[in-house]
Amino acid sequence: MREKSIGETFNEEHKMKILAIDTSCDETAVAVTDGTKIVSNIVWSQASSHAKFGGVMPSLAQRMHEERIDWVIDRAIKGSGLKINNMDAIAVTVGPGLSIALGVGIDRAKKLAIKYNKKLIAVNHLEGHVLSPLANSKFETSDSKFLMLGLVVSGGNTILVKINEIGSYEVLAQTTDDALGEALDKGARMLGLGYPGGATLEKLAREGEIDSYKLPIPILGQEKRRIFTYSGLKTAMSRLTESEKPLTKRKIQNLAACFQGVAFEHIIRVLRYCIVHSSESKIQDLLVGGGVAANIELRKRLRRLGKEFDISVHFPYSKKITGDNAAMVGVAAYFKAKRNEYIDPVLVDRKPNAKITN
Ligand code: KG4
Repeated sequence: MREKSIGETFNEEHKMKILAIDTSCDETAVAVTDGTKIVSNIVWSQASSHAKFGGVMPSLAQRMHEERIDWVIDRAIKGSGLKINNMDAIAVTVGPGLSIALGVGIDRAKKLAIKYNKKLIAVNHLEGHVLSPLANSKFETSDSKFLMLGLVVSGGNTILVKINEIGSYEVLAQTTDDALGEALDKGARMLGLGYPGGATLEKLAREGEIDSYKLPIPILGQEKRRIFTYSGLKTAMSRLTESEKPLTKRKIQNLAACFQGVAFEHIIRVLRYCIVHSSESKIQDLLVGGGVAANIELRKRLRRLGKEFDISVHFPYSKKITGDNAAMVGVAAYFKAKRNEYIDPVLVDRKPNAKITN
């Protein structure tokens, strides 16, 4: 367990102060936001406790959220220099995510909203990731006269959406099996790297030669199916690693470079297809969020794609905002508050399978 980040304080004109909570997976996250500015941002990661299981254990996640949540809420409020009475609203992630983990954050948000008589906002975790590049950014979506796309590449989801306007999304492509982060984690595991392995894989891939092995690009030539899929690539990677054993450091670097390269090439091909076949005349912006958005190689490839089609690509301003965090929940909640979308604390409930479109 470790504390990952503490945010900054801003002295800007008051917009809307929100205490935001996210316990959708294995991070206990609480933030205070003001409009799209982050006032404080605390993420308590449980990742090292789940590492020995090679993935997230829901019951352990729930217990650890229970143990930490009050402390994390307290730290976020103290870090903001505000009191809970200064908040205009409380926001909480209701899904998608692990049901019993979501329940911990929802329960606290509900109690705080009732106790302090605050408005409550229910947020979709995926919408938070899509809007995460707006946090602490000068980019205003109202400046965008043309279509915007949103791409989420995280441990739990890979999804490309058309942003009709903030709050209204249409799915253009989505995953059918493993999310990109999950696939990278599994590839890393085959190479004997720890969990979650995406960032370690990236470091090793930098030293490797991308063409040293041949791995199949998923759904090559069938991008029109508009799906992200990694099961075939994972099987091929598993066979290849077995055949290359014993694995030397050089082999691991090369395998990491090839696997990561093909996984990203698949994302770029599906995106290119969706851009070329978009019914809109012009796509102006692409917002990218989720844990894998921290990856430099993926950023490079997405920027290159953006250049090809004259699309501005926006990433979260800091790595603190790529992985799961509550600052992005506060940002999404701010736009919901502007639309007056509050929920009765008595009615708020978990939606583990929530879609971004509902
Ligand atoms: O958004 P996030 O916290 O996902 C969910 O919990 O859904 O992202 C976590 C994922 C993990 O799969 C992790 O391996 C991956 O993001 N990740 C990376 C990098 N940093 C984190 N993948 C590739 N390169 C990175 N630098």
